[in-house]
Amino acid sequence: MEIRFAYWVPNVSGGLVVSKIPQRTDWSYDYNAWLAREADKAGFDYALAQARYFASYGAEYQLEAVSTVAALATTTQRLKLIAAVHPGLWHPAVLAKVGTTIDLISRGRFAVNIVSGWFKQEFTGFGEPWLEHDERYRRSEEFATVLRGLWSGEAFSFRGDFYRIEAPPLKPKPVQSVPEIFFGGNSKAARRVAARVADWYFMNGNTLSGLKEQIDEVSALARQAGRTVRFGVNAFVICRRTEEEAQAELRRIVELAEWEAVGAFREQVKQAGKSSPEGKGMWANSTLEDLVQYNDGFKTGLIGTPESIAEKIRELKSIGVDLVLCGFLHYSSDLVAFGREVIPRVRQDSPARQAESAVGA
Ligand SMILES: Cc1cc2nc3c(=O)[nH]c(=O)nc-3n(C[C@H](O)[C@H](O)[C@H](O)COP(=O)(O)O)c2cc1C
Repeated sequence: MEIRFAYWVPNVSGGLVVSKIPQRTDWSYDYNAWLAREADKAGFDYALAQARYFASYGAEYQLEAVSTVAALATTTQRLKLIAAVHPGLWHPAVLAKVGTTIDLISRGRFAVNIVSGWFKQEFTGFGEPWLEHDERYRRSEEFATVLRGLWSGEAFSFRGDFYRIEAPPLKPKPVQSVPEIFFGGNSKAARRVAARVADWYFMNGNTLSGLKEQIDEVSALARQAGRTVRFGVNAFVICRRTEEEAQAELRRIVELAEWEAVGAFREQVKQAGKSSPEGKGMWANSTLEDLVQYNDGFKTGLIGTPESIAEKIRELKSIGVDLVLCGFLHYSSDLVAFGREVIPRVRQDSPARQAESAVGA
């Protein structure tokens, strides 16, 4: 499968790095509508809206993810629109209905990213129970099972520990047979559940070996379940004319980091992978500097020239990555530049490469 490109919809304020460096971006709906149209033209395949209810890592203002992608559906043509949703805050049957509606509005372009939650206050602050780490993943597995069951278009019944469903066929059905289910998480529980119920496993930024380890494990678990899962990785892209310029931009971002906010975020994410029984998972090994991009996006290493970034993406592809989820410093210019300079370099093999494969054939 050709590699796919996604971008983080900037639907929360403050940009994608927790730094005082100026960032040409905006969280407003009008800006996001413009950006989504640009992304559509620039060759991106997916847009991911994040789910945030309270400020963290800055992010003081937030647009809700599902309603944001519903609106973006009306202003784009091709992009698939992924909305992050928290089991425990959404009921899966209500989301099945909302998702079907957006799938109709978008003519088959709706997808979800099931996020199990790391930010305790977002649950307790709304009066919802905060489940222990692996229980959250048990609930997410049931949530995905119910979504799929209801989207199948058949009568569906389910008795789990978190959800009980006795439903006639929901009408209408989605346009797609079943909208795609993405799954974010890194811990052992996240891997097990993604292997059993997700179409896509989303990873935080990481080194090639850190990514390969997860891809191999989740692929093996999926095989045991008779399934296949595809893999997406987060990357913060700094694409400049020279390596030096790109590295200097990274240094400036880190030098101007808002350390107090980064430190507070580090405390909050202890509810994630570290609180799992094995004590591993997302952010468990992140340094304070890594957390300046709150999904470890520097670690993936898409920082350099168009050529070196394209080469790095080919390496990612060679270890089994199917999708690169991009974040940018200056969305207003960097996203379109990425579409012009990098995506074609990755998609169309260079003439030299084509000659090589012709000789090989
Ligand atoms: C690409 C990606 C996107 C995510 N988006 C969100 C989000 O929008 N909202 C949220 O609360 N958590 C989000 N998460 C966090 C995960 O759902 C999960 O809480 C986190 O990965 C910790 O997982 P772990 O405890 O299994 O290691 C995202 C994770 C990844 C990898």
